[in-house]
Amino acid sequence: MTLNTVKGFLDNIEAIELAKIASKCSALGPCLEIGTYCGKSALIIGEACKKTNNLLFTIDHHTGSEEHQLGQEYHDSELYDENVSSFNTLPEFLKNLKKSNLNNYILPLIGTSKELAKEWKLPLGMVFIDGGHSMEAALADYEYWYPHIVKNGYLLIHDVFPNPEDGGRPPYEIFCVAKKSKKFKNISLVKSLAVLKKIEI
Ligand SMILES: C[S@@+](CC[C@H](N)C(=O)[O-])C[C@H]1O[C@@H](n2cnc3c(N)ncnc32)[C@H](O)[C@@H]1O
Repeated sequence: MTLNTVKGFLDNIEAIELAKIASKCSALGPCLEIGTYCGKSALIIGEACKKTNNLLFTIDHHTGSEEHQLGQEYHDSELYDENVSSFNTLPEFLKNLKKSNLNNYILPLIGTSKELAKEWKLPLGMVFIDGGHSMEAALADYEYWYPHIVKNGYLLIHDVFPNPEDGGRPPYEIFCVAKKSKKFKNISLVKSLAVLKKIEI
Protein backbone atom coordinates (compact mmCIF):
# COMPACT_ATOMS: atom_id res chain seq x y z
CA MET A 1 0.00 0.00 0.00
CA THR A 2 1.14 3.59 -0.53
CA LEU A 3 1.53 5.79 2.52
CA ASN A 4 0.07 8.75 0.66
CA THR A 5 -3.37 7.17 0.96
CA VAL A 6 -3.13 7.07 4.77
CA LYS A 7 -4.64 10.07 6.56
CA GLY A 8 -2.14 11.71 8.90
CA PHE A 9 0.09 14.64 9.66
CA LEU A 10 3.65 13.50 9.11
CA ASP A 11 5.77 15.18 6.46
CA ASN A 12 7.88 12.98 4.10
CA ILE A 13 11.22 14.28 5.43
CA GLU A 14 10.06 13.63 9.00
CA ALA A 15 9.00 10.14 7.93
CA ILE A 16 12.51 9.33 6.69
CA GLU A 17 14.05 10.47 10.01
CA LEU A 18 11.47 8.51 12.00
CA ALA A 19 12.24 5.33 10.04
CA LYS A 20 15.99 5.90 10.46
CA ILE A 21 15.77 6.21 14.25
CA ALA A 22 13.36 3.28 14.57
CA SER A 23 15.74 1.04 12.67
CA LYS A 24 18.57 2.01 15.05
CA CYS A 25 16.62 0.80 18.09
CA SER A 26 16.19 -2.91 17.43
CA ALA A 27 19.06 -3.95 19.66
CA LEU A 28 17.93 -1.62 22.47
CA GLY A 29 14.28 -2.62 22.85
CA PRO A 30 10.86 -2.22 21.22
CA CYS A 31 9.54 1.12 19.95
CA LEU A 32 6.44 2.79 21.41
CA GLU A 33 4.28 5.52 19.90
CA ILE A 34 1.67 7.71 21.58
CA GLY A 35 -0.88 8.82 18.96
CA THR A 36 -1.74 6.22 16.31
CA TYR A 37 -4.54 8.18 14.56
CA CYS A 38 -4.99 6.33 11.22
CA GLY A 39 -1.56 4.70 11.38
CA LYS A 40 0.65 6.88 9.18
CA SER A 41 3.62 7.10 11.55
CA ALA A 42 2.91 3.58 12.86
CA LEU A 43 3.29 2.13 9.35
CA ILE A 44 6.57 4.03 8.88
CA ILE A 45 8.01 2.81 12.18
CA GLY A 46 6.51 -0.64 11.59
CA GLU A 47 8.25 -0.97 8.22
CA ALA A 48 11.58 -0.11 9.89
CA CYS A 49 10.81 -2.62 12.66
CA LYS A 50 10.12 -5.32 10.08
CA LYS A 51 13.56 -4.81 8.51
CA THR A 52 15.34 -5.00 11.86
CA ASN A 53 13.03 -7.54 13.53
CA ASN A 54 11.81 -5.08 16.13
CA LEU A 55 8.31 -4.33 17.48
CA LEU A 56 6.19 -1.19 17.69
CA PHE A 57 3.52 -0.68 20.35
CA THR A 58 1.17 2.09 19.26
CA ILE A 59 -1.17 3.76 21.78
CA ASP A 60 -4.41 5.64 21.08
CA HIS A 61 -7.89 5.83 22.59
CA HIS A 62 -8.94 6.58 18.99
CA THR A 63 -11.46 9.28 19.93
CA GLY A 64 -9.17 12.05 18.68
CA SER A 65 -7.35 14.94 20.32
CA GLU A 66 -8.93 18.30 21.18
CA GLU A 67 -8.26 19.66 17.67
CA HIS A 68 -10.02 16.71 15.96
CA GLN A 69 -13.37 17.16 17.68
CA LEU A 70 -16.49 18.46 15.88
CA GLY A 71 -16.05 22.11 14.91
CA GLN A 72 -12.30 22.16 15.65
CA GLU A 73 -9.52 23.02 13.18
CA TYR A 74 -8.42 19.46 12.33
CA HIS A 75 -11.82 17.76 12.42
CA ASP A 76 -12.28 15.23 9.59
CA SER A 77 -15.94 14.41 9.08
CA GLU A 78 -15.02 11.09 7.40
CA LEU A 79 -13.65 9.94 10.75
CA TYR A 80 -16.75 10.87 12.74
CA ASP A 81 -18.69 7.74 13.69
CA GLU A 82 -22.44 8.45 13.91
CA ASN A 83 -23.02 5.04 15.53
CA VAL A 84 -21.09 6.04 18.64
CA SER A 85 -21.52 9.84 18.24
CA SER A 86 -17.78 10.26 18.42
CA PHE A 87 -14.65 10.82 16.42
CA ASN A 88 -13.31 7.31 15.85
CA THR A 89 -10.07 6.52 13.99
CA LEU A 90 -9.93 2.84 14.95
CA PRO A 91 -11.74 1.35 11.89
CA GLU A 92 -9.57 3.38 9.48
CA PHE A 93 -6.40 2.41 11.37
CA LEU A 94 -7.31 -1.31 11.39
CA LYS A 95 -8.05 -1.16 7.64
CA ASN A 96 -4.63 0.42 6.99
CA LEU A 97 -2.87 -2.05 9.26
CA LYS A 98 -4.46 -5.00 7.48
CA LYS A 99 -3.45 -3.67 4.05
CA SER A 100 0.13 -3.09 5.20
CA ASN A 101 0.79 -6.69 6.26
CA LEU A 102 2.74 -5.35 9.23
CA ASN A 103 0.54 -7.02 11.87
CA ASN A 104 3.47 -9.01 13.22
CA TYR A 105 5.47 -5.85 13.89
CA ILE A 106 2.80 -3.33 15.02
CA LEU A 107 0.87 -4.04 18.20
CA PRO A 108 -2.04 -1.62 18.79
CA LEU A 109 -2.87 -0.66 22.37
CA ILE A 110 -6.32 0.91 22.70
CA GLY A 111 -6.49 3.24 25.68
CA THR A 112 -5.06 6.40 27.15
CA SER A 113 -1.35 6.97 27.42
CA LYS A 114 -1.59 7.60 31.18
CA GLU A 115 -3.56 4.43 32.02
CA LEU A 116 -1.30 2.21 29.89
CA ALA A 117 1.85 3.76 31.35
CA LYS A 118 0.77 2.76 34.88
CA GLU A 119 1.05 -0.94 34.00
CA TRP A 120 4.05 -0.70 31.69
CA LYS A 121 7.12 -2.83 32.51
CA LEU A 122 9.07 -3.32 29.25
CA PRO A 123 12.21 -1.23 28.63
CA LEU A 124 11.90 0.70 25.35
CA GLY A 125 14.45 1.54 22.68
CA MET A 126 12.40 4.48 21.39
CA VAL A 127 9.36 6.54 22.47
CA PHE A 128 7.62 8.74 19.90
CA ILE A 129 5.25 11.34 21.39
CA ASP A 130 2.55 12.48 18.96
CA GLY A 131 -0.56 12.50 21.16
CA GLY A 132 -2.63 15.27 22.76
CA HIS A 133 -1.42 18.84 22.31
CA SER A 134 -2.63 20.41 25.55
CA MET A 135 0.14 21.16 28.07
CA GLU A 136 -1.38 18.65 30.50
CA ALA A 137 -1.49 15.84 27.87
CA ALA A 138 1.98 16.51 26.45
CA LEU A 139 3.61 16.75 29.88
CA ALA A 140 1.90 13.56 31.05
CA ASP A 141 3.11 11.73 27.93
CA TYR A 142 6.65 12.87 28.64
CA GLU A 143 6.65 12.20 32.39
CA TYR A 144 4.96 8.81 32.23
CA TRP A 145 6.97 7.40 29.35
CA TYR A 146 10.52 8.80 29.41
CA PRO A 147 11.54 6.62 32.40
CA HIS A 148 10.93 3.51 30.26
CA ILE A 149 13.51 4.52 27.63
CA VAL A 150 16.78 2.62 28.05
CA LYS A 151 20.17 4.34 28.15
CA ASN A 152 21.17 5.29 24.57
CA GLY A 153 17.53 4.91 23.51
CA TYR A 154 15.62 7.70 21.75
CA LEU A 155 12.84 10.14 22.57
CA LEU A 156 11.11 11.66 19.55
CA ILE A 157 8.55 14.46 19.77
CA HIS A 158 6.39 15.64 16.88
CA ASP A 159 5.10 19.20 16.31
CA VAL A 160 8.02 20.91 18.02
CA PHE A 161 7.91 24.55 16.89
CA PRO A 162 10.60 26.79 18.41
CA ASN A 163 8.91 29.79 16.75
CA PRO A 164 5.43 30.31 18.30
CA GLU A 165 4.16 31.63 14.97
CA ASP A 166 4.60 28.16 13.44
CA GLY A 167 2.45 26.19 15.89
CA GLY A 168 1.30 25.36 19.41
CA ARG A 169 3.66 25.33 22.40
CA PRO A 170 3.21 22.14 24.48
CA PRO A 171 5.32 19.77 22.32
CA TYR A 172 8.07 22.41 22.27
CA GLU A 173 7.72 22.90 26.04
CA ILE A 174 8.25 19.19 26.78
CA PHE A 175 11.19 19.19 24.37
CA CYS A 176 12.69 21.96 26.56
CA VAL A 177 11.89 20.01 29.76
CA ALA A 178 13.69 16.95 28.33
CA LYS A 179 16.75 19.00 27.36
CA LYS A 180 16.87 20.76 30.75
CA SER A 181 16.68 17.44 32.60
CA LYS A 182 20.21 16.62 31.35
CA LYS A 183 18.96 13.08 30.77
CA PHE A 184 18.77 13.71 27.02
CA LYS A 185 21.14 14.92 24.34
CA ASN A 186 19.59 16.97 21.55
CA ILE A 187 20.31 15.13 18.28
CA SER A 188 18.26 16.86 15.58
CA LEU A 189 15.15 18.82 14.67
CA VAL A 190 13.92 17.72 11.26
CA LYS A 191 11.06 20.07 10.35
CA SER A 192 8.94 19.65 13.51
CA LEU A 193 10.30 16.23 14.51
CA ALA A 194 12.68 16.50 17.48
CA VAL A 195 15.11 13.66 18.17
CA LEU A 196 16.76 13.28 21.58
CA LYS A 197 19.04 10.52 22.85
CA LYS A 198 18.87 9.35 26.46
CA ILE A 199 22.28 9.68 28.02
CA GLU A 200 21.38 9.35 31.74
CA ILE A 201 18.95 6.93 33.39
C1 LIG B 1 -1.71 14.06 15.87
S1 LIG B 1 -2.62 12.58 16.03
C2 LIG B 1 -1.38 11.35 15.72
C3 LIG B 1 -0.93 11.34 14.30
C4 LIG B 1 -0.19 10.10 13.88
N1 LIG B 1 1.00 9.86 14.68
C5 LIG B 1 0.15 10.16 12.40
O1 LIG B 1 1.32 10.04 12.04
O2 LIG B 1 -0.76 10.36 11.61
C6 LIG B 1 -2.82 12.46 17.77
C7 LIG B 1 -3.54 11.21 18.25
O3 LIG B 1 -3.33 11.10 19.66
C8 LIG B 1 -4.47 10.54 20.25
N2 LIG B 1 -4.45 10.92 21.67
C9 LIG B 1 -4.56 12.17 22.20
N3 LIG B 1 -4.44 12.14 23.53
C10 LIG B 1 -4.24 10.85 23.87
C11 LIG B 1 -4.04 10.16 25.11
N4 LIG B 1 -4.03 10.82 26.26
N5 LIG B 1 -3.87 8.83 25.09
C12 LIG B 1 -3.90 8.14 23.91
N6 LIG B 1 -4.08 8.74 22.71
C13 LIG B 1 -4.24 10.06 22.68
C14 LIG B 1 -5.64 11.09 19.47
O4 LIG B 1 -6.76 10.24 19.57
C15 LIG B 1 -5.06 11.17 18.05
O5 LIG B 1 -5.43 10.07 17.27
